[in-house]
Amino acid sequence: MTTALTIALSKGRIFQETLPLLAAAGISPVDDPETSRKLILDTNQPDIKLVIIRATDTPTYVQYGAADLGVAGKDVLLEHGGEGLYEPLDLRIACCRLMVAGDPNHRPRRSRPRIATKYANTTRRWFADQGRQVEVIKLYGSMELAPLVGLADYIVDVVDTGNTLRANGLAPLEHIADISSRLIVNKAAMKMKHVRIKAIMARMAAAVSA
Ligand code: ATP
Ligand code: PRP
Repeated sequence: MTTALTIALSKGRIFQETLPLLAAAGISPVDDPETSRKLILDTNQPDIKLVIIRATDTPTYVQYGAADLGVAGKDVLLEHGGEGLYEPLDLRIACCRLMVAGDPNHRPRRSRPRIATKYANTTRRWFADQGRQVEVIKLYGSMELAPLVGLADYIVDVVDTGNTLRANGLAPLEHIADISSRLIVNKAAMKMKHVRIKAIMARMAAAVSA
């Protein structure tokens, strides 16, 4: 008997960019999450399922063991804190940078500049580590809008080409972290399903290096 495994992925770039790495490990989904409404996808291996969730929820599913494995951006992992999971493999996909951004000519009038972001924990930690006092405003998307309408002085968001910032008259100002997606593994599953998970990890790692 083989060990059943559940792998958590989010739709969009993580799913698309993880597919070739899963294929290298001999795993291919039967359905396409972009067209199917199913949230649990079968694969070519009867005992391996994929669960399709929001990118920010992936560490939570893996932490609680609802999924054994998952793929999550380092931005999301920094924000989550990483409790209950291992992060054994940098998949080198969905690469970008976590940045402070804003209008380079803007001069904040408040003693504690306001920073709008969906990365509230990471942002608080980063400014606190430098002894800079800021007020963090939690948003769930479209961060670039916040400085344009006076909600915040700056934003913290991921930047790749910089096109989104430029299109809104903003620029990257300070680099917080380089970001890529990581394979994450539930700590108990790593022990209980060690042989199977190790085999998948080894084949994915070889595909990443290639
Ligand atoms: P959610 O749906 O939970 O709000 P999201 O919309 O940020 O999450 P995606 O856009 O699929 O989800 O991003 C998934 C991951 O890809 C991010 O966590 C980040 O690590 C990376 N990423 C985000 N934007 C870019 C980008 N423009 N270029 C490259 N990688 C990116
Ligand atoms: C992300 C991020 C930025 C953009 C940066 O959004 O929130 O808005 O990418 O990429 P760029 O520097 O190449 O413009 P995404 O495209 O994932 O859309 P989303 O808001 O749906 O997450």
